[in-house]
Amino acid sequence: MILSPDELEAIRRQAIEEYPHESCGVIVARGAERRLVRCRNAQNELHAKDSVRHPRDARTAYYIDPADLLRIGRLEAEGFAVAVIYHSHVDAGAYFSETDKRQALLGGEPAYPAATYVVTSVLGGRPEAVAAFRWSSERSDFVPVDLEAAGGATEAPPRDSKRLWDRAAAVMPGGVNSPVRAFRGVGGEPFFVARGAGARLWDVDGREYIDFLGSWGPLILGHAPAPVVAAIAEAAARGTSYGAPTPLEVEMAEALTAAYPSMELVRLVSSGTEAAMSAIRVARGATGRALLVKFDGCYHGHADSLLVKAGSGGATFSIPDSAGVPAPLAGLTLTAPFNDLEAVRALFRARGSEIAAVIVEPVAGNMGVVPPQPGFLEGLRATTREHGAVLIFDEVITGFRVAYGGAQERYGVSPDLTCLGKIIGGGLPVGAYGGSRALMGQVAPLGPVYQAGTLSGNPLAVAAGLATLRRLDRSSYATLEARSAELERGLRLGASRGGVPLTVNRVGSMLTAFFCDAPVTDYASAKRSDTKRYARYFHAMRERGVCLAPSQFEAAFVSLAHTEQDIATTARAAAESLASL
Ligand SMILES: Cc1ncc(COP(=O)(O)O)c(C=O)c1O
Repeated sequence: MILSPDELEAIRRQAIEEYPHESCGVIVARGAERRLVRCRNAQNELHAKDSVRHPRDARTAYYIDPADLLRIGRLEAEGFAVAVIYHSHVDAGAYFSETDKRQALLGGEPAYPAATYVVTSVLGGRPEAVAAFRWSSERSDFVPVDLEAAGGATEAPPRDSKRLWDRAAAVMPGGVNSPVRAFRGVGGEPFFVARGAGARLWDVDGREYIDFLGSWGPLILGHAPAPVVAAIAEAAARGTSYGAPTPLEVEMAEALTAAYPSMELVRLVSSGTEAAMSAIRVARGATGRALLVKFDGCYHGHADSLLVKAGSGGATFSIPDSAGVPAPLAGLTLTAPFNDLEAVRALFRARGSEIAAVIVEPVAGNMGVVPPQPGFLEGLRATTREHGAVLIFDEVITGFRVAYGGAQERYGVSPDLTCLGKIIGGGLPVGAYGGSRALMGQVAPLGPVYQAGTLSGNPLAVAAGLATLRRLDRSSYATLEARSAELERGLRLGASRGGVPLTVNRVGSMLTAFFCDAPVTDYASAKRSDTKRYARYFHAMRERGVCLAPSQFEAAFVSLAHTEQDIATTARAAAESLASL
């Protein structure tokens, strides 16, 4: 038994009473006899006396009062053993943090190897989850243990994620701030994240994951990389927004234009959606034409003109892909299958003089990863040039991902306008669009195309982005390539051993395993995947501690924080998961 219901109640009550400070204590046992020793957290006084030796914010750590340690020592002398060591987390989840680990270890070994560490979380003064952890000598780490399965705490509260999900659903549409997070593509309820570090994520229930979601692409260095966190903190200390130009914005613009020679001028915005929306406005403004061409299954954010899908049959015009997009506006966007150059040429033959731009993800990431076939990007370049239309590469995912200079560097094709986002914000909200001096000269205040933003070029976001870009060099991409190739190999092997038809598409560190047995070259072929099977795979991987995108039609992102060991562990988990489907 880990905790009796009474003990659990006492621990939770203490945590609430001592909020906003961390509470702490132990339970000692001698045979069937148990005593709960409520301890005093001496962190405040120690910090006040010696802030160098005890530098942490008093609220974010606990330090058992030495007088309590003496009491515990006396009980041990009387034959009691420390069974449980507990403390609370204030406004954070019930996970076992790095600080907790450091406190629990003496020279790399646990001070109390047989004890269970119980962490309660208190959010805003309200009790939340309780989680338990024990030392695993096999893994040389603390691992979560199930309070209920261990026989105690039979009335343990529901998991934190479950409680948060219920609260979220009451106040947010679908419980989320972006639809795919709601797990509709795979079923089940999402977990809530407590924190991330390197290649790992921890949920508020204390479960640990090797993360391949990577915040949908930005985290090429992994979670909370020290230089990025430091850059954000340093920038924040100087102020979070001014609404006036800052030196770092200039540095960022210089870094982007140097890495992307097709961008002579660049404008920073706050999201990929804004970047794409603004780029098409520039294209329409510069050409004086209204029509756009986009590809089925490519996503460019949620601006009205881009939230369209192919009309049925041989219809030329698209139809809205969302309520609220007026049909006449959707009708200004023409669609073609990805990789189908002939379809694009046909559109230009029919309406070439009205087409302002072709917008494309040069490596598609939003139907799952689909590489451009040889000649496709070159063909788009030639056709748009021939008809005086603007070629827009949406490199929101591929920028600094498939090469430092993005897909345009990797495939040697220069667009007229480029959209960037994700990696250039280092995990904070940033987007950018840019192109030739002539085209970007259309943008206000130089020209008549209006586009603006209160938080554009935000100092924190730019600092995070620059700190990220500074960590990337040629060797970064060699490392990403090697790790990702290894993952691809592991997936293929696992699939063939498990007898599961799987098509793995990969470009650099972006990869999708489609549950189908034919090549995936466009949205129609991607849609032939067995999405139910993907859902089972997703959950099987999650149970094994691997976090993937909750949809078949997304990419897995390998980061520089993923070690060879992480890849090997993931490949093993994939082999087991595939065999279990
Ligand atoms: C290729 C592409 N363009 C644009 C966007 C929109 O970016 P954001 O979500 O930052 O608005 C996305 C988002 O995933 C994307 O993948």
